[in-house]
Amino acid sequence: MPPEATFIFPHGFMWGTATSAYQVEGSNTNNNWYAWEQESGRIINGDRAGLACNWWGGRWKEDLDRAAEMGQNAHRLSIEWSRIQPHPDRWDEDALENYRRILRGMYDRKLTPLVTLHHFTDPLWFVEMGGWEKDESPGLFERYVRKAVDALKEYAGLWLTINEPNVYVYGGYLGGGFPPGKNDLASAFRVLTNLVRAHAAAYHAIHKIQKEARVGACIHYRAFWPKRSWFPPDLIAANLVSSNFNNAFPDALHTGRLRFLTKSIQVKEAAGTQDYFGLNYYTGEMVSFSPSARTDFFHRRSFPEGALVSPTAFLANVPQGIGEALQWAKRFNLPILITENGIEDDIDILRPRYILEHLHKIWRNINHDVPVKGYFYWTLVDNFEWERGWSQRFGLWGLGDGQERIRRPSVDLYAEICTKNAFNSDMVKKYAPQVYEQIFPE
Ligand code: BGC
Repeated sequence: MPPEATFIFPHGFMWGTATSAYQVEGSNTNNNWYAWEQESGRIINGDRAGLACNWWGGRWKEDLDRAAEMGQNAHRLSIEWSRIQPHPDRWDEDALENYRRILRGMYDRKLTPLVTLHHFTDPLWFVEMGGWEKDESPGLFERYVRKAVDALKEYAGLWLTINEPNVYVYGGYLGGGFPPGKNDLASAFRVLTNLVRAHAAAYHAIHKIQKEARVGACIHYRAFWPKRSWFPPDLIAANLVSSNFNNAFPDALHTGRLRFLTKSIQVKEAAGTQDYFGLNYYTGEMVSFSPSARTDFFHRRSFPEGALVSPTAFLANVPQGIGEALQWAKRFNLPILITENGIEDDIDILRPRYILEHLHKIWRNINHDVPVKGYFYWTLVDNFEWERGWSQRFGLWGLGDGQERIRRPSVDLYAEICTKNAFNSDMVKKYAPQVYEQIFPE
């Protein structure tokens, strides 16, 4: 008889999914991503966000019904700056009212909202003023944050200032395919510095408006290992990539000093500005030193040998990396929320085991005193995947051409997990028998 067991999560654990405004709302036409979509060659297949999941048209109701029916008790969403402040001197009260309606809808469904204030998109007027390269940018962001938090505070108390500043900077300023499409170290450092300042300003402003608020940011953590562990240059390359990609931003919020590549700057007001630690984890990679890879800071990356890869080879299933991420995050001495974790998989072959294997690592870490308080799967319904357009499908629910929602097996798996606040051997047997022995060794 194979061993049977139930792995229970702590009482009050937050179970949810994560979304972002531009990716689900549809009809956003006043920000940098909309402008980017209009340029040819920027998005795979010339895809457009278009109506997305049509949340702005009201379909958030049925999707949040789905989330609640699955037993989720929380949801992470973002609000769109360019809707709330369409011009530097104009606030759109109707947009704020719509967000209030959505947040009230969450309250009615017993979904605790985690509200992201900036998820990759910037208003066009802000970009035209020079965006995050300008010293005024943190102050402009703070103004918007004050307005939004003041308007929404009745329904939300858990805030996330800036989503994945590291991805924002690499994507937009170090050649990663995000607007504005720059590849310029000096700009990258300026932007990163201003994002640290903006976070700090938002943190202090939110606490002034709402004393009991819990405010954090989230980082995209990627595990990096030396490809040849016996070869010191690979080790050095892996450490360098990791400290710049993973550590720079959260260290700055911890210590008040930002260190990035060869640069270092003090941002005193940022020290100690997180009430929880937001961690996004998707995958891990092997790093090898490569003297010819000049534009990639002299390294190359590949997925660990034997790891199962997602349909477009964008991610690999590397659950040991989330264990490492949690051990790393422990150093900040904060409660941890896994604010994103997921995989693109239109046929839902890999997703069930990806979820179970990652939750297994999380559960083990919790039992070794890592204070993980919640988990948000990315994502609820397939949505617009930035420069990868609609080519990748991260949803528990699929999205059809006619806006219909398609139930994937992972819906039932995640519903069982959320409802029971646990996963057990029956679920593994049913949804991912291939990993049974690995999770429940004899
Ligand atoms: C982003 C999400 C995105 C996801 C999957 C994360 O880096 O925060 O917006 O959809 O990755 O690509």
